[in-house]
Amino acid sequence: MREFKNKVAVITGAASGIGRGIAERCAQEGMRIVLADIEEKALNQTEKEMKAAGASVLAVPSDVSKASDVEALAHKTLNAFGAVHLLCNNAGVGVGGCVWECTVEDWKWVMGVNLWGVIHGIRVFVPIMLEQDTECHIVNTASGSGLISSPHLGIYKVTKQGVVSLSETLYHELAQRGAKIKVSVLCPGWVNTQIMEAERNRPAELQHDPDDEVRIRMSPEYQEVEETVRAAVQTGMPCHQVADCVLNAIREEKFYILTDPDFVKLMVQLRLDDILQERNPTNPLP
Ligand SMILES: NC(=O)c1ccc[n+]([C@@H]2O[C@H](COP(=O)([O-])OP(=O)(O)OC[C@H]3O[C@@H](n4cnc5c(N)ncnc54)[C@H](O)[C@@H]3O)[C@@H](O)[C@H]2O)c1
Repeated sequence: MREFKNKVAVITGAASGIGRGIAERCAQEGMRIVLADIEEKALNQTEKEMKAAGASVLAVPSDVSKASDVEALAHKTLNAFGAVHLLCNNAGVGVGGCVWECTVEDWKWVMGVNLWGVIHGIRVFVPIMLEQDTECHIVNTASGSGLISSPHLGIYKVTKQGVVSLSETLYHELAQRGAKIKVSVLCPGWVNTQIMEAERNRPAELQHDPDDEVRIRMSPEYQEVEETVRAAVQTGMPCHQVADCVLNAIREEKFYILTDPDFVKLMVQLRLDDILQERNPTNPLP
């Protein structure tokens, strides 16, 4: 897609961080924007500020882990703007802890938002785009973590590797059909956002036992990883730069969007070498 003016973009997780950055960048291109997010106060504030800046915006409170919310998001988009041309399945959350220590609630929450959110987006919006038969693009937000092998953030990595695989499969299937829908997978390195405050949006039914909370989250190992990741996020790339990478990739029909290619490619190479040489996994971050 080379022309953006008056086209319609639906962006999930649009009330903060990368999603908001992409939304603002799309508005600069003259697109009409549907902002979807679970955090209503931040969503309404984003809508207000973007409208004040002259953008054509609709805010739709949505929990992407729920099929019915994503279906309602599509209906509201079509009712308001009559079409959809760009879908950014971007909403995401994360938790730390060793894979055997994470609770069932942790798994359900992160899998629900990061993986099921993208699955629902594809399931609901691809048929609409196929029917429309116009130039369209889908950007799924994975992560550099979706391409590498390392300890920590296990649930997060499972979901992000799932998003990479889902996006690659979608790419092949749409290409095989000769569809006008292009696909990209966004695999950022560290980005300066509110991701470390993701717990603010954990639903009440997926909160875990306070005893588990203390046992897992207060361990020195957990605290050390948390501090390292927090520092990396705080010094990460600004969201507007990630948004520039995304818009350029859409224009160039580029599938893999690596915002920090030197860093990620080294670790991808290491993993590929492990697999090709059939040797045991190397920890790239010892
Ligand atoms: N920040 C980083 O370093 C980094 C790196 C790689 C990938 N990512 C990915 O980027 C994406 C955006 O995250 P971010 O870093 O901008 O964090 P963020 O917390 O600033 O933004 C995430 C947004 O998603 C929303 N959200 C959470 N649960 C939701 C749900 N169930 N339904 C709808 N919206 C929901 C939040 O309210 C928030 O507005 C995520 O998929 C994340 O995994 C982030």
